[in-house]
Amino acid sequence: MPLTGKNILIGITGGIAAYKICELIRMFKRANANVKTVVTRNALEFVTPLTLETLSQEPVYYKQFETEERKPEHIALCSWADVFLIAPASANTIGKIANGLCDNLLTSLACAFQKQIIFAPAMNTGMWNNKAVQKNIETLKSYGAKFVEPESGYLACGTEGQGRLADLNSIYSAVEELLQENNKFLKGKKIVITAGGTKENFDPVRYIGNYSSGKMGAALAQKACEAGADVTLITSASLTRKMSFNTICVNSAKEMFEAVQEEFYNKNADILIMTAAVADYRPENCADLKIKKENTDELTIKLVKNPDILSEMCKIKKPNQQIIGFCAESNDLIKNAKTKIRKKGCDWLVANDISRKDTGFSSDYNEVFVLDKNLNITKIEKDTKENIASKILESIWQKQAK
Ligand code: C5P
Repeated sequence: MPLTGKNILIGITGGIAAYKICELIRMFKRANANVKTVVTRNALEFVTPLTLETLSQEPVYYKQFETEERKPEHIALCSWADVFLIAPASANTIGKIANGLCDNLLTSLACAFQKQIIFAPAMNTGMWNNKAVQKNIETLKSYGAKFVEPESGYLACGTEGQGRLADLNSIYSAVEELLQENNKFLKGKKIVITAGGTKENFDPVRYIGNYSSGKMGAALAQKACEAGADVTLITSASLTRKMSFNTICVNSAKEMFEAVQEEFYNKNADILIMTAAVADYRPENCADLKIKKENTDELTIKLVKNPDILSEMCKIKKPNQQIIGFCAESNDLIKNAKTKIRKKGCDWLVANDISRKDTGFSSDYNEVFVLDKNLNITKIEKDTKENIASKILESIWQKQAK
């Protein structure tokens, strides 16, 4: 899991192991993470603000009531941090956090922080074995905190036993693991995604189709899978490699409609994402045998309307189900998208401009606008379809999770 760009907040309490955190900051910085430190007054007996500021290239935080921006520091740092690690965590600070006390910036942050906190305790063996300390640790674990247990060995106070700060690599791995876990923001969700242009046969070997490559749908399926979802891709485009999610291959809009009804509606999936370019019309009749050119100089194919899968699903969806439509427009993108989200009744609509040569249909790139029901618009700048897929999922569901 790359730590690049991740925001790591380290809470340092007053124990001799505080000096080891200087090296940990270096490890995170080498991995291109952003690091901020919040310390207790006691921690400053062991490490200086200058050391921490030089290593983290950020101010060190400990003053609870003085902020430059006039924003409560504990709220600002909480929303900044992707992960909050308290290392070394003293018996005193563990006890305060376990009991909801907020007498300094570090404990206030711990109280306000909404995600899982990682504690790496370090203390004298007697303190570690103290029943009250162990009870506080059990309390924090029962509230969902993660602990990197201290190791046994020679302690700075001259005794041997458990209490030495865990190896820095173990603490580093715990941060990586938690970030990976947090990334699974679609865990427990069943998602059905449609992809590709449907093929509407007028004889057994010929069809009316469109240029949709199915790449956007496949990228969304892959990224939703990585975010922890149980994904089923219903596709009319052939996949070039074996995928890690369920795939159902269909040809026509009618087959796609039946598969969507079964997988999304009957099986009660949570989310439907309709990236497929479903043909609006199909030949009224499909010849049983290949049409011979020798038999006629002209061929007239009468087209009849296909069901609009997206609209039909929006009409019958259950209250717990969410639907995202896509729209490809060659003019007045936003205006048409606003009309379309209302008309179709979906929860979100992803709009892209297919008049551009460098994005859209068969390109590996895309640039999209995500509209919600209130017509709020988020622009996702041109990027690979994989990155666009991640950003679409994050912009819709990570926002909800926060
Ligand atoms: O109306 P328009 O084709 O622009 O709408 C595009 C959206 O509707 C896409 O999400 C597409 O998958 C879906 N659609 C559908 N059934 C159709 C036509 C489009 O579900 N017959």
